Amino acid sequence: MALLEVSDVVSGYGKTDILHGVSISVEKDEIVTIIGPNGAGKSTLFKTIMGYLLPRAGKITFLGEDVTKLPPNKKVEKGIAYVPQLENVFPSLTIQENLEMGGYSKDKDKQRKGIERAFETFPILASRRMQRAKSLSGGERQMLAMSIALMTEPALLLLDEPSAGLSPKVTEEVFNQINRLHDKGIAILIIEQDAHRSLKISDRGYVLAMGQNYFDGPADSILNDEKIREAFLGG
Ligand SMILES: Nc1ncnc2c1ncn2[C@@H]1O[C@H](COP(=O)(O)OP(=O)(O)O)[C@@H](O)[C@H]1O
Ligand SMILES: [Mg+2]
Repeated sequence: MALLEVSDVVSGYGKTDILHGVSISVEKDEIVTIIGPNGAGKSTLFKTIMGYLLPRAGKITFLGEDVTKLPPNKKVEKGIAYVPQLENVFPSLTIQENLEMGGYSKDKDKQRKGIERAFETFPILASRRMQRAKSLSGGERQMLAMSIALMTEPALLLLDEPSAGLSPKVTEEVFNQINRLHDKGIAILIIEQDAHRSLKISDRGYVLAMGQNYFDGPADSILNDEKIREAFLGG
C-alpha cells in the first residue's frame, strides 16, 4: 500500500482550475521529486495535499485512508508535514520558540525530545537557540523550517523548493540533511528547481506541466531522457 496516493485531483483558486487531474504516489521508503516549469501547479499540488485547498474532484489517501477532505491540522496528525516555499519560519521568534511552535500539539516531554532531536540533527541551531530566526542565513533558515516540520514526527515530509536562493555549497548541505532524514525512515516528496541535485537522491520523479502529469518514472530515467533534459533540465 502506498504511503500517499493522489488520484486524478482537480484543484485551484476561486473558480479557476490549476490542477486538471493530477496523480502521484509516494511509497513508505521513497524520496520522490516533482519538477516542472514555473506556474505548472507544483505548489498548488502541495497545498491541496495538505488541505489548504479542497480538491474539486479526485481522491487523496494516506496509508489507505481517505484523507481527501481533511483540514491541514488533521493531515499533520496523520503524519504529513509540510515546509512551504516561503514564510516557513517565524522571523521574530527565537529558534527555540520556533521549534516549540512546531511541536505545540505535543505534550511537554515530547516537545523537549523533539527539540533535542532537532539540535542533534542541526547543531548550528543549538548554538543559536536564543537568537531570532530572522538572524539566520538562508541555509540555516531552511534547516530550521525543516526542523519545525519534523517536530510533529511525520511519516512523510513535503519540501517545496528547499534550495531556492541558496548557494551550491549550502544546497549540498541541505540535500545531505534530506538524505539523512530519509535514512531515519521518513519518506520525502520534494519540489525542486535544482532538478539534477534533487533527482540524484530520489527514487522516482514526476514532471508536471500546465497542471497535468507530463512524465514520471525512475529518477535516472528522467535525468537521462533527452526530451525532458531539453525542455525541463536546461539541456
Ligand atoms: N493564491 C493564488 N490565487 C490565485 N492563483 C494562484 C494562487 N497561487 C498560485 N496561483 C496560480 O496558480 C498557477 C500555479 O501556481 P503554482 O502552483 O505556484 O506553480 P509552481 O509552484 O509550479 O510554480 C499559477 O498560474 C499561479 O499564478
Ligand atoms: Mg511553486
